[in-house]
Amino acid sequence: MSIDEFYFMHHGLVLPKETHSQESVRFFGQEFTFKDDDAVAVTYPKSGTIWMQEILPLVLNGGDLTPIHTILNWDRVPWLEEKRFQTLVDQLASPRALVTHLPYQFMPPSFFSSKAKVIYVMRNPKDVIVSSYYFYQMAKFLEDPGSWDEFIGKFLKGRVMFGKWTDHVKSWMHTQLGDRIIYITYEQMIQDLPATVRLISEFLGKNLSDEVIEKIAHHCSFKSMQSNVMSNFSLVSDKYMDSSKSQFLRKGVAGDWKNHFSSKQLAHISSVIYKELEGESFALPWSLDGTAVVTNVDA
Ligand code: A3P
Repeated sequence: MSIDEFYFMHHGLVLPKETHSQESVRFFGQEFTFKDDDAVAVTYPKSGTIWMQEILPLVLNGGDLTPIHTILNWDRVPWLEEKRFQTLVDQLASPRALVTHLPYQFMPPSFFSSKAKVIYVMRNPKDVIVSSYYFYQMAKFLEDPGSWDEFIGKFLKGRVMFGKWTDHVKSWMHTQLGDRIIYITYEQMIQDLPATVRLISEFLGKNLSDEVIEKIAHHCSFKSMQSNVMSNFSLVSDKYMDSSKSQFLRKGVAGDWKNHFSSKQLAHISSVIYKELEGESFALPWSLDGTAVVTNVDA
């Protein structure tokens, strides 16, 4: 099977044909206009996107659970670059919660002239590889991952949707957005979800009570999301996702990489990633050689 069967290239970026098209990226790039009160979660795939699709609407509306119980997550907080976006955009009430996997340089002019805020969520790339490997097995619209070794190779070369992890991170770590962007990690959310929800709410100018913060964190826990049909992808047809192979909400932990890599594979991954980030002015919030170090990202 060739890569062209599943993907097309958009200015050097690998995009899945099933969910994206040249028209969908053109629409986002040329016709969509950002508003000042938009909140955009930006992630490399498998870093916590759907988690943000749960958290953001609740933060923006003060903890009203209606959206997470009545609207499917991909319509509730849509992907800007996907085909569905064009049909949804006029129905979104402000302040809008949006998500994208696009690197920074793909954002359109109205993004740069607006005051839209960005929450960039990063996850330890070793766990991103593990999560991706299972996702590529269950998602029928993505190329089969091949063997574990093969998939690690594809991931590191950027032969996966949205290209190389290091390119994505570099693009969003070097923005001119000033206080319009915050960086959070998946591991930070795992470690203390209420504190992270508080951080996001303050960043978005919402002064939420401790009670509301706790309520949001409770309804955005892995368990709550697993049992929420609007968020757990159980309503997606078998034609697109084979849940007998893996679940979208698979494990929801930090550090699953410890169960998957050989020491040789780990050494290879860290050497490739460190080399590609050589000379960068930012430090990763994890040590790729050892255990996860959770700190705020120092951009
Ligand atoms: P795992 O495959 O490691 O379980 P994305 O939404 O960017 O595709 O990321 C999916 C990953 O986020 C999956 O990781 C999924 O389980 C995890 N995830 C989603 N919601 C979560 C939550 N509430 N708590 C912990 N992990 C969550």
